Amino acid sequence: MDSNDIRKKFVEFFKRNGHQEFESSSLVPDDETLLFTTAGMVQMVPYLLREKDIEYPRVCSIQKSFRTVDIDRIGEDGRHLTFFEMLGSWSFGDYYKEEAIRLAFELLTKEYGIEKDKLWVSVFKGDKNIPEDKESYEHWLNIGIPQDRIVKLGRDNFWGPTSEEGPCGPSTEIYFDQGEGICIKKEYVCCKKNKCIPGCDCDRFLEIWNAGVFMEYFKDVNGIFSKLPFTNVDTGAGLERLSLVLQGKKSVFETDLFYPLIENIKKHTPEKDKFNINSAYLIADHVKASVFLISDGVLPSNEYRGYILRRIIRRMFYHKTFIGNNDGGFIDLIEKVIDIYKDQYPNISDLDRIQNVLFSEDLLYSNTILKGIKKLEDMIKDKKIILGEDLFKLHDTYGLSLDMSKDILKAKGIKFDERGFQENMRRQQERSRMNSTFSLGKGMESDFSDFPKTEFLGYDILSLKDAKVLYSQRNGDDVTFILDKTTFYAEGGGQVGDSGKVVGNELEVDVSNVKKTKLGVYLHFGKVVNGDIKEGDFVSCYVDKEKREKASFNHTAVHLLNEAVKKILGNDVSQKGAFIDSERMRFDFNFPRALTEDEIKAIEDLVNLNISKNEEIEVLEKNFDDVKKMGVDLAFEDRYDKNSKLRVVKIGDFSVELCGGTHFGNTSSLGHFKITKQESASKGIRRIRAILE
Ligand code: SER
Repeated sequence: MDSNDIRKKFVEFFKRNGHQEFESSSLVPDDETLLFTTAGMVQMVPYLLREKDIEYPRVCSIQKSFRTVDIDRIGEDGRHLTFFEMLGSWSFGDYYKEEAIRLAFELLTKEYGIEKDKLWVSVFKGDKNIPEDKESYEHWLNIGIPQDRIVKLGRDNFWGPTSEEGPCGPSTEIYFDQGEGICIKKEYVCCKKNKCIPGCDCDRFLEIWNAGVFMEYFKDVNGIFSKLPFTNVDTGAGLERLSLVLQGKKSVFETDLFYPLIENIKKHTPEKDKFNINSAYLIADHVKASVFLISDGVLPSNEYRGYILRRIIRRMFYHKTFIGNNDGGFIDLIEKVIDIYKDQYPNISDLDRIQNVLFSEDLLYSNTILKGIKKLEDMIKDKKIILGEDLFKLHDTYGLSLDMSKDILKAKGIKFDERGFQENMRRQQERSRMNSTFSLGKGMESDFSDFPKTEFLGYDILSLKDAKVLYSQRNGDDVTFILDKTTFYAEGGGQVGDSGKVVGNELEVDVSNVKKTKLGVYLHFGKVVNGDIKEGDFVSCYVDKEKREKASFNHTAVHLLNEAVKKILGNDVSQKGAFIDSERMRFDFNFPRALTEDEIKAIEDLVNLNISKNEEIEVLEKNFDDVKKMGVDLAFEDRYDKNSKLRVVKIGDFSVELCGGTHFGNTSSLGHFKITKQESASKGIRRIRAILE
């Protein structure tokens, strides 16, 4: 049965059983805290928590998914992948354990025709928080799985949450027995444990379906479980593994979803003694994942999602070179990925774009990383093991990441001391932490009490010349310094400190953060790129304009959000914290429950309405009594110096707040405000995460 038929049968079966089909969502989830879409349930979370109204109590989908948990195992066995498709089904408060088990069993044995005797199952054995799942055990017995093929497992059979907090529950999983001696890594010798059962780490018992996470719990950010007032079923089967079983193969790389890719790689690897099947598997997995990630808008970079994409692209290029897979054929390989998937996922068809991204990354790889690789290869020549300090040097001086070094050393079968690397890394972090916090640690404020208050000019201008260096302390490239005047905003009011550059005579420092003491002394933290910075020097400050602007707009949006939350949820609600940088904002407030979909929408609409009013953002200096008359919330009246001027930020007639942050211009510059997530921050405190688009 080819993979198209497997998908089709799955959807038809669940539709016949009353399920509504949902389209696959993007690999980039709406939830900013979640790196990638790792399962079909990601787009279902709002329904699982009833934050969205349930229109369809039974749902199914075929979801493209990307996981990094097994990234180090790719190519080493026949079942782990980064990109895969998940065939999933859900019941939102409709059927529960018995029906979920019946549906999965019927589809596998009747529709797909898998022999019942090859199936094993596992159920949750219970732990200190959650009781054993006895019901599932009974249902499997009743449906005809004998006792000796039902195993009770612990952590492996508890699933979720996918994010910092969320719905979760015990699960029951179905395995296909590939027979003794199937372990691919050990040349078809089954694992050496006394008794090989599901949960064992070899390829024999292939988990084909998480046939039901019974989501009746919520785990919060503090790890506390509470019972949800409703039940859910969340299931997921890996298409690649089902294809393996239904196509009679031993590895996912032998199925129709991979075979054309492996053939291409073999064809374009001229020196047959250099060819290595594990590298071919890795190249096939990573090229496929790259095509999908790029098509969903991820671009290689050094941060967050972009970093993962960069990592898999570089790893793929390395393995191509390693086995000598450089006899053309790369475009053909990308085209083959598109051919396999274009009917199911039409958005991956833009060959030119995918090619451009991959080729520019190849150029960068050849110009930069190759130097580090060369250095590592020199080291390998006379060493049997690579020490932690060498790995660290490759990372710190030659820009070769630990991941990359590990990949190369593993491919070449050379040992390395990862713990030693971590120890070197820890020491360096400690040094830079000392640099960035020693001044503000307990009792340390006094270290800077002799310095004059820094003159801050950054509300009006972003660069200035002739700032005098009053203090500087270096530790390697890390530096902390104080100037007599600055344009760098110091962390405060929830807004991050500015970043940018400080330059002088043959001097260049990348400033990454700025903090201020209670007495108003600004401490700049950064890395010296060139030269040295010494007391008495004169330097120029250049704040990163784009980041400052974006952080300012986000800060203004938080003022609008603060007001909108009060208007929609009631005046008892007040701000309990905020974090604002150039990318996003986080806003905490007291509220006893999750917001409904309607409330979220109303808050978004009210903020956007006020953005569209094109109001000027006024920053006023007022004395305390005038501020009181303006109706500003002075919850902590004692904190303000009644004799000095206070800074008030006013947005039309909608919002007025005391604030030391950077605000400017007009609300029309903000763009569109969107709430990306709501969650609990701690007991009784809700958190909204939002962005400007
Ligand atoms: N969310 C569960 C999993 O990913 C079931 O779909 O295994």
